[in-house]
Amino acid sequence: MNRKKIAIVAGTRPEVIKMAQVYHVLKTSDILEPVFISTAQHRQMLDQALRIFSIVPDFDMDIMQAGQTLTDLTARLLSAWKDYFSKSKPDAVLVQGDTTTVLATSIAAFYERIPIGHIEAGLRTYNFDAPFPEEMNRRLTDPISKWCFAPTKCSYDNLIREGVNPASCFITGNTVIDSLLWMRERLTKDNISAFEMAKKCGISEDFAREFLSGKKRWILVTGHRRENFGGGFENICAAIKGIADKYEDVGIVYPVHLNPNVQEPVNRLLAGHERIALIKPLSYEDFIWFMDKSFFVLSDSGGVQEEAPSLSKPVLVMRDTTERPEGVEAGTCELVGTDVAKIMSSASRLLDDGAEYRRRAMLKNPYGDGTACLKIKEILEKAFVC
Ligand code: UD1
Ligand code: UDP
Repeated sequence: MNRKKIAIVAGTRPEVIKMAQVYHVLKTSDILEPVFISTAQHRQMLDQALRIFSIVPDFDMDIMQAGQTLTDLTARLLSAWKDYFSKSKPDAVLVQGDTTTVLATSIAAFYERIPIGHIEAGLRTYNFDAPFPEEMNRRLTDPISKWCFAPTKCSYDNLIREGVNPASCFITGNTVIDSLLWMRERLTKDNISAFEMAKKCGISEDFAREFLSGKKRWILVTGHRRENFGGGFENICAAIKGIADKYEDVGIVYPVHLNPNVQEPVNRLLAGHERIALIKPLSYEDFIWFMDKSFFVLSDSGGVQEEAPSLSKPVLVMRDTTERPEGVEAGTCELVGTDVAKIMSSASRLLDDGAEYRRRAMLKNPYGDGTACLKIKEILEKAFVC
């Protein structure tokens, strides 16, 4: 029997990280044939992630433009999909998460009557302003998907409450855990020193000696949410500088997202501080090394909220709301928004109160057991055999 062609689509860094093992696992199927399609909504950050997972896309749309608007990006994606589908029609399309790539791909596939599988379905804040525009993207994708792969019971319940057909909904765990477990195993084998890592990532030897070598504590920072652009980022930077100024024995490592709306305020407000290392986005491999060695994480990222509980790292989430309540319930994640005083007081509590830190740094994993990709493969195989 001819294997069914399954298009695995990724446009941004987190989509690659969360789709990589889906691709590798589907490759082992006798029934399904995965085809990896990169929209390249991100260029450098996507390529960096693809390299780590040894994936060479079968097709690359090369969409990214510097400073792209959401409308232009969506229009270019729809047009690229029209061209693609006019030449090649997969038997199903798999999308992951809530980016513009996800929504545009789903609309294009829906118009072509190609079945859609949505990985990481059912995440909700029920606030269209946060995260913007991601809440809208996922809310529109789920009802037109034939398979909704919910990572947790909570996300599954959201789908059922919204009236999505229960026969389309599956709890699989989050594929991010599959990638994380694979990466931890690889890092254990490699055992790179703090000085080698610092050199590789453009961090000074002095900073490495003072902080990364394990003598003093340091905090890992990431941030990129659109709803935080402008005033939110000014506040985030003020809080980071406030922490670095208050604690002379604490370092900060900040791999800065390539979005110009992030680069500009971060470089203007934080460059040159002796205890703040501003660096380029890290490869997934290096990022997990840094997260594993950090004291805690300050971030507005979705993926980081999912990874941190498995690495016993508290996260101060610089958002007012989250679609990932499991990490907050586990005690690992705390919503701190973008208020300078709130970020600083929550950071101080973790730095000053050992008992509180230990309570929050307990090993927990509400997001899966590393078998999400296998479950997705089995569900799809069953669908195509029946
Ligand atoms: C996008 C997603 C967001 C996801 C995030 C992951 C949307 C609307 N946003 O946000 O959901 O959480 O990716 O990081 O889908 N840039 C580069 N090189 C890169 C990547 C980005 O230069 O490799 C710059 C470009 O100027 C680009 C800009 O960043 O135009 C914005 O990229 P875009 O994908 O539109 O938004 P993100 O903020 O990255
Ligand atoms: N990440 C990475 N390098 C970095 C920062 C983050 O590889 O410098 C990884 C991180 O481990 C997580 C994912 O990228 O898996 C999160 O991506 P991002 O924060 O850009 O997007 P989000 O998860 O918020 O959609």
